[in-house]
Amino acid sequence: MIRYEETGHVFTLETAHAAYQMMADGYGYLQHLHFGGKLGGGSCDGLRPVWATAFSASPQVDVERQRYSLDLTPQEYPTAGGGDYRTPCLSLTFADGARNVELCYASHRILKEKPALEGLPSLHGACETLEITLRDRWADLEVVLLYSVFEEYDVIARSARIVNRTGAPVTLNGVLSACLDLQEDDFDFVHFHGRHAMERMVERTPVAHGEVSVGSVRGTSSHQHNPFVIVCDRSATEDSGRCWGLSFLYSGNFIAAASCDQSDACRVVMGIHPQGFSWRLEDGESFQAPEVALCYSGRGFGALSQSYHKLYRHCLCRGEWALKRRPVLINNWEATYFNFNEEKLFQIAKAASELGVEMLVVDDGWFGNRFDDRRALGDWVVNTEKVRGGMKALSDRLKEIHMRLGLWFEPEMVSEDSNLYRAHPDWCLSVPGRGRSRWRNQLVLDMSRKEVRDFIHDEMAAVLSSADFSYVKWDMNRHLTDVWSAALPADRQGEVHHRYVLGVYELLERMETEFPHILFEGCSGGGGRFDAGMLYYHPQIWCSDNTDAIERLEIQYGSSFGYPISAVGSHVSASPNHQTGRVTPFHTRGVVAMAGTFGYELDLSAITEEEKELVKKQVKQYIRLYDLINDGNYYRLTDPAACCLTAWEMAAPDGSRALLSIVYSHVRANLYPPILRLRGLTPDARYRLTGDDGKVYGEWTGAALMEAGFRPPRQHDAYPHGCADYAAFQIELTRVEG
Ligand code: DGJ
Repeated sequence: MIRYEETGHVFTLETAHAAYQMMADGYGYLQHLHFGGKLGGGSCDGLRPVWATAFSASPQVDVERQRYSLDLTPQEYPTAGGGDYRTPCLSLTFADGARNVELCYASHRILKEKPALEGLPSLHGACETLEITLRDRWADLEVVLLYSVFEEYDVIARSARIVNRTGAPVTLNGVLSACLDLQEDDFDFVHFHGRHAMERMVERTPVAHGEVSVGSVRGTSSHQHNPFVIVCDRSATEDSGRCWGLSFLYSGNFIAAASCDQSDACRVVMGIHPQGFSWRLEDGESFQAPEVALCYSGRGFGALSQSYHKLYRHCLCRGEWALKRRPVLINNWEATYFNFNEEKLFQIAKAASELGVEMLVVDDGWFGNRFDDRRALGDWVVNTEKVRGGMKALSDRLKEIHMRLGLWFEPEMVSEDSNLYRAHPDWCLSVPGRGRSRWRNQLVLDMSRKEVRDFIHDEMAAVLSSADFSYVKWDMNRHLTDVWSAALPADRQGEVHHRYVLGVYELLERMETEFPHILFEGCSGGGGRFDAGMLYYHPQIWCSDNTDAIERLEIQYGSSFGYPISAVGSHVSASPNHQTGRVTPFHTRGVVAMAGTFGYELDLSAITEEEKELVKKQVKQYIRLYDLINDGNYYRLTDPAACCLTAWEMAAPDGSRALLSIVYSHVRANLYPPILRLRGLTPDARYRLTGDDGKVYGEWTGAALMEAGFRPPRQHDAYPHGCADYAAFQIELTRVEG
């Protein structure tokens, strides 16, 4: 709900559990008043006064009193040059070289829906939108701030549009999307860092004087940092404390920063990283900054995550597959790498189909002369030496055994040893007269150019139209370097990063509109582009190239803070694991992969009979529990980095059932496993706890399970007759009474 109180110019945005408040103050500046718990319909105006102190300048309008300073006033969209020395959202240069911008309230309107952001991902669904137009006091430059209120999810989607009507070009040097000026300082900054094959490790660090910031200047959101952060009370836990989430719906360079100022107030900002960015905005043009989904929880991280999970499933992911059950798949990458032909693929698919698997995904190596990773990217034409008869013959054969077909592409890349590169050497990002960096022997195509996108589109569309495909894995295996486009003049090279992302979005939109029945999965060397921007285009993303079940516990734990289970690509792979050499039980690998989109990535034609029986059981179990896993409320019960086991729970929203998963990662002699206090159950109801091996653990009330808690079985209870490390337990809770 959005309210405007005219006398005080106060805007209040209300969600189920939160209120966001701001006002156009006496001088016309848009002041932030509150984002937190509800306010009982009241205003915070005057509650926490601020004033100018020494060495904090007052703007021209306050020249008589000199009691007001932008440096100390909490703001909605801070700018540089006029005395606010904290991190600005907007910095620009006017045609005369001036860099000051002084934004004041001009007008507003309340819309009953959410406007789409042209060329960019954005939330959709039932909501109201407040559009506030600010204008520079001295020049005809406007900033349009959008606030869309998603009541049910406690989310406010923010973005900003810069409109130049000054009569001359303006150079944008930095345009962030959102700012949150909180009037306190006792906060932690929670962020998700990592590296290839070890993404989204949780780090929690105090917000102190000076700035703590994370970001990417790699051209993608990256493995190294994720464009999702949480600012929270120092005491916040899974179940208590105030938390503010900022999730960026964007897949390129980003910054997320929090800092404490001289008055001990905390500013949090998020947007496109200003490093390397500049944008020439001609008179009459506008620049749209991407959207940030802001979420508030007064009940800890758990409630915050659940809001994002539901929001992204219902108001971000689109198309046929957003909420539909995804087929259980077998991917041939770790089974064969480049070494396959259609007969080998068919053998794997046949074995898989006999075990209940529903789709074969042919990964890298099916096109051009792609016998290794040194060549052929860009030549998206089936290699009929490897796949004799082409994709149509393979898909026809697969249909006979009731298997669907999926295919891997890496559309944004080119190998120097490729027909595409030989024909168009200037289509890659590279600076004339300089050397170029390589990673995985490949260069990055200049996706800002329409002719490049058209070419890739035509190649992909020809393959996808040639057979019956159900799935595409869209990979991207290196970060951008030598960012320079042959299609842009020298003074516009600062636009290439953003234009690249817009180009990728345009191509994705085009492909997915033309092939609406295909399920697209995102990927960037695993989870290097695991962001809310990509979830707008495809509902799932390969979470990490690390398929080791024990490592995945931490990776999937970190991912769960901001992203739903249905987004997390997860497979059972071989043991010893190819990334770490770790040996884990087949059962454990299944339990971990079920906290994701679930599939297999090993040679199912070469596993033991016992393992085959397990696959059959796992596939049935996953399909049976699909709704609970994906629509249930997700609870993190332990922190894998701090505990001998990782436990998580999915509970049906009506409390009728739940699924408890427990995986041991570090066992010691005479260990007392920690008590797990379950969540999301009906206190008075009675639940039966049954393991996936049929063992009944007992019956207890929801209240007993949530208040007193459940002691997990010991690791060796899973393997009474032998020794096996990394035991897992999957326990179903069924309401039997109440
Ligand atoms: C990186 C992906 O993350 C892997 O799953 C696989 O598709 C390889 N690329 C293929 O080159």
